[in-house]
Amino acid sequence: MNEQTTIDRTQREYSAAAKKALGRSPQLYINGEWVDSSGGETIDVEDPSSGKVVSKIVEASDKDVDRAVAAARTAFDDGRWRNMPPVARQKIMNRLADLIEEHADELAELEAIDVGKPKGMAGAIDVPGAAAHIRFCAGWAGKINGETISPYTMPGDMMFAYTLKEPVGVCAQIVPWNFPLLMACLKIAPALAAGCTTILKPAEQTSLTALRLADLIAEAGIPAGVVNIITGYGHTAGDRMVKHPDVDKVAFTGSTEIGKLINRNVTDTLKHITLELGGKSPVVVMPDVNVAETAPGVSQAIFFNSGQVCVAGSRLYAHKSVFDEVVEGMANTADFWAPRASLDPDAHMGPLVSKEQHERVMGYIDAGKRDGASVLMGGDGPGGDGYYVNPTILTDVNPQMSVVREEIFGPVVVAQRFEDLDEVVKDANDTQYGLAAGVWTKDASAAHRIASKLQAGTVWVNCHAMIDTAIPFGGYKESGVGREQGREGIEAYLETKSVIMKL
Ligand code: NAI
Ligand code: MG
Repeated sequence: MNEQTTIDRTQREYSAAAKKALGRSPQLYINGEWVDSSGGETIDVEDPSSGKVVSKIVEASDKDVDRAVAAARTAFDDGRWRNMPPVARQKIMNRLADLIEEHADELAELEAIDVGKPKGMAGAIDVPGAAAHIRFCAGWAGKINGETISPYTMPGDMMFAYTLKEPVGVCAQIVPWNFPLLMACLKIAPALAAGCTTILKPAEQTSLTALRLADLIAEAGIPAGVVNIITGYGHTAGDRMVKHPDVDKVAFTGSTEIGKLINRNVTDTLKHITLELGGKSPVVVMPDVNVAETAPGVSQAIFFNSGQVCVAGSRLYAHKSVFDEVVEGMANTADFWAPRASLDPDAHMGPLVSKEQHERVMGYIDAGKRDGASVLMGGDGPGGDGYYVNPTILTDVNPQMSVVREEIFGPVVVAQRFEDLDEVVKDANDTQYGLAAGVWTKDASAAHRIASKLQAGTVWVNCHAMIDTAIPFGGYKESGVGREQGREGIEAYLETKSVIMKL
């Protein structure tokens, strides 16, 4: 019997620590204090595993945003953070990473309750990843330097020139709901290392861990006003942050649609901007693979985090000689990925984040069916409460279908056959997106050849979604602007000043 039919999806009891976090009164973290909103509006917090409302957060007003920006502006301008010796900033940042690790279990549980991701996944990936971003960037705090430069057209004995690397200023950082704590830390860490101050807005669906992070930011000793955390909607609070004249840089992760809107909205004030946007990442499986290893790997590439991953391997291209075996191997993972409540210790995949996302993903699956795609696996939800969708494989698709062209952001992969390399590279690149891609092969030279031809910011070989804070990450084409992580991620928070002196 299929195991899926016997799963009890009732959400488990929350821990005392989680109940306490859910029970706090809705407030904002501005200028080092917990403050009430000027408006009094709130947003419901839902547990997508049950569909129940479990808490409330502030819906920040324009006044709240202005107050947070003013706090960040003052904290930047008076130099309380950027002029602190790097050794002290590094120490405080490492203390924050320590505190995240000390509260790992609670943070993983809150993430599971808020996003619907399995607590085990949040504990293995999101929380340690968040701490790692902070530690890596803490190390940079003391390694940001300009250089002395010998002029080319001016006499060297008369002129002395050097560059200074300075923090870009006040940052507005807006993150989505798929990896809330991880993305929050990915955003604040390089800003802090560079000496910037920031206003961070988590997604309205998933603000719980960002609010707990604010407690830890205070406890770590980050001075008041350096990091401000406000909750609220994108089109109101987010929009005000983006357009605010006292903000110097916008860093956004989210949909391509909103990324384009934000890019237009920063134009009037010509802010610095980095955008990490959507994807429709191809995964190419060559004829020489060991299917027993590859099938679970390419399944994880799409089903991890219920497919709500910007780099999800959502377009599979398997060589015709292995196609049937690969998709059969993927279908054999159905029980492993069967969605369960996020606090079920056996869960590998949870529900989708929200009713809206559930409707969106089911809408795509239905459109795929109407367009003539065959459902090899899933294609439905288990029913009952919560926003569950079964892991889904669609075959018999063509490049015109919306399921092949658009980012679904759910556990849905479209599987296609290919015959020769040039053809598959062309198909893989036939997309507005260019965030990531995967290649599975034992042939090292084929791997390098394909990697060089794929239009993507990251190419994985024999793995997927391996993201490391030291390695630059970002998109080609409509998947983004700029890079985060690694040295380039720090550079994105710096201005270069050239000083030229006549001797
Ligand atoms: P979204 O892009 O609207 O939201 C992401 C963040 O941007 C949230 O914090 C939101 O409050 C904020 N935001 C929204 N409108 C804004 C505005 N006008 N100005 C400033 N900030 C704004 O994404 P949404 O609506 O939650 O999801 C829709 C689709 O976007 C998903 O189905 C998925 O396809 C895609 N998406 C992609 C992500 C990625 O990492 N590539 C992450 C989240 C969503
Ligand atoms: Mg939206």
